[in-house]
Formats: sequence, C-alpha cells, structure tokens
Amino acid sequence: MIYFDNAATSFPKPKAVIEAMEDYFFNVGGNTGRSGHRMAIKASELVFNTRELLARLFNISDSSRIVFTKNITESLNLAVNGFLEKGDQVVTTSMEHNSVMRPLRYLEQKGQIKIFTVQANKEGLVDPAVFEDILKKEKIKLVAVNHASNVTGSLVPVDVIAEIVSRYGSSILVDAAQTAGAYSIDVLSDNIDMLAFTGHKSLLGPQGTGGLYVREGIKLAPLVRGGTGSNSEKEIQPNFLPDQLESGTMNIIGIAGLGAGVKYVLKQSVSKIRQEEMKITKMFVKGVGKIDNIEMYGPRDISKRVSVVSFNIPRHAPSMVAYLLDKQFNLACRSGLHCSPSAHKTIGTFPRGTLRFSFGYFNDAAEVEKGLTALIEISRERYSHNKQTEL
Ligand code: ALA
Repeated sequence: MIYFDNAATSFPKPKAVIEAMEDYFFNVGGNTGRSGHRMAIKASELVFNTRELLARLFNISDSSRIVFTKNITESLNLAVNGFLEKGDQVVTTSMEHNSVMRPLRYLEQKGQIKIFTVQANKEGLVDPAVFEDILKKEKIKLVAVNHASNVTGSLVPVDVIAEIVSRYGSSILVDAAQTAGAYSIDVLSDNIDMLAFTGHKSLLGPQGTGGLYVREGIKLAPLVRGGTGSNSEKEIQPNFLPDQLESGTMNIIGIAGLGAGVKYVLKQSVSKIRQEEMKITKMFVKGVGKIDNIEMYGPRDISKRVSVVSFNIPRHAPSMVAYLLDKQFNLACRSGLHCSPSAHKTIGTFPRGTLRFSFGYFNDAAEVEKGLTALIEISRERYSHNKQTEL
C-alpha cells in the first residue's frame, strides 16, 4: 500500500516508537507522580524525558510549560476556553481547522467573544499586514492561526505575525498540527505564546498524544480539574504547571512512544525531514501541473507550503477517486472537506471538497511516480464512472 495520508496520521512509525511503548508495558508499568516506588518513579522519569525532548525540539527553556493532552483538539480547546473571557476579541483566519473554529464559534454564539477573520487568498495564503490593520483598530486578546493548512498545505509566516501581535500587546496561539516535526519551530525566536501540537503526525508518535506549550505569564483556566498527584491535602486545583492543566492519569504508554518519535525527529533533524518531504512534494506538484484534467490548490511556490497537496479531477467526485485509488491502485489518501469547511470556502472547493495527498518522511520518489500514473489513468477516464460519481 502507498500511504499518502500523513496529514491524517503518520504511517509507518519508527520501530523505536513501538519498542518504547512495549518497554513501558513490560518493564515500567507504574503511574506517574502518584506513588513513591521505583516503578512510579521510572514512569515519572519517562514522562519528564518526553517533555524535555519536546522542549529541545521547540526551543522551550522550561519543559514544565508543556502540558500533555490527548490530542491537539484538546490542546486548542484548552487554549481557547482557558484564555478567553467574556468580552474578549479574537483574530483568526479563514484557513482554520474546525478544532479552532468550533470552540471559537461556540463562544461567539454564547455572546462571549467577538471574532475577526483574516481572509486568505485563493492559494490559502494570508497577508500579515491585515492582522496589523485589525490590531491597530481593535483591542485583541488572542490571535489564533493555523501554521500550515491541512487542506492546501499553505504556510503562515508565524514569526512575522507574532512580532506584530506582541507589538500590540496581544497573544498568539499557533496550531502546529501539520508542522510540528516537519517544519522548524522555535517558540523564542518565533515569539509564540501558545503552541498546540499533536503527537501522531510528524512527531511520529501514537494517537492519543498531544500537548500545549504555554509561555510564562500566560494564565489558563483548566478544562478539567482533579487528581494531579500533587498538593493532595487540598481540594482545590494546584496553580503551577504542568499539574494545573494535567488532571487524571496520563497516557503514559503513548507519551513513551511520543518521546521515541521526537527523539527520532531530533536525530534526523527537522531541516533534513523538511528537505526530503519537500523534494517529493515538488516532484508531485510539478507532475500534477502537467496533467491536463487536474486542478491543484495551494501555492506552487514550494517554500510557502508543507507536504499537503489538494487537487481535483473536475468531472470526478473526490470520494470516488479516493475509492478508486484505494481499490485499484493500493493508494491511501483523504477526500472531502478535511474538517475545514472555511478553508474549502476560501479556495472555492466547498461543498465538493478535494482529494488530498499528504506525504511523509517515509515516502519516496517511486511512490510519487506511481501516484501520478494512477491520477493520469483516472483523469483519462480509463476507469469507468457513471453519473452518480459526478458532482
Ligand atoms: N486533521 C486531520 C486531517 O487533516 C485529521 O486529516
């Protein structure tokens, strides 16, 4: 099987990830921060080590400012709900995933916040000057941006926007679902206040892992309160990180796997991963551009994108092409709206959606060739389709 669905979850995972998870199960076993025996201490060390590796990857000086969550959706909900209060104003973009849009719209519908949306262009790119225009006129508490779109792969110049945000005394939340591990992120030089990341995409860890970095000085209310293994004499939540935002037993086995994934990324280096992924993305973008019947979305300029590419074969429903690719060509990809209706509205593919190929570090040029050949065959209609497949 050719796997081009790395934006949904990366596959395969490095062997070290599976081994780290097995090692926890067979040789560690204890719970973190709860008991004083050796097994519990080993579990706490394991979680601490993953935090430290993440801190190294994102240049975070104090790893206790990273809180673990079950996925990036939880991280983004924690940031949005924990930071915003009644009367606050927020800036976001038209390229956001529903994991940002839905929590924001919910607060807006309740009359708690006002949202200003920066409209991206047809390629999914935003102009930082538009953020400044809004920040100049309005009192904005938070700017929430998707680092790279999961539909078009278009990158947002986070460092440029964050610099503007800090000049106006606002804060920035970065959704790094498609960039953490695949594109360089430095919370200090990029001026990032909150960084939400997932463990199971380019960090190569298992599902059920994610986290949120919270800069010192940013105060968040917890989404969940409960046992933390600390301050157990008190019935109120501890007020220090990470405990304040990490209640209940953690996904220790997942965090063990995530640690091994991050270690693998650090060993390979993000710049090498970026280089390899963009080599095959460039090849695909070039190849797709030569196929008459295919319309590709997102920037042609490789430096403005990540390895997520959306396209359509005009007379074929995306879901039918994805079905054919799976059944006839052993190729896995994702079709539809990718939980990002606003991004599809922006690029003009709503409600039809697109086909999306998302390449990972373990894909190679031969697979891209095969993918292109399959698309040529489908676009030349060598595969029959009937009226039901058209949209
Ligand atoms: N948000 C993920 C995707 O784009 C799951 O497929």
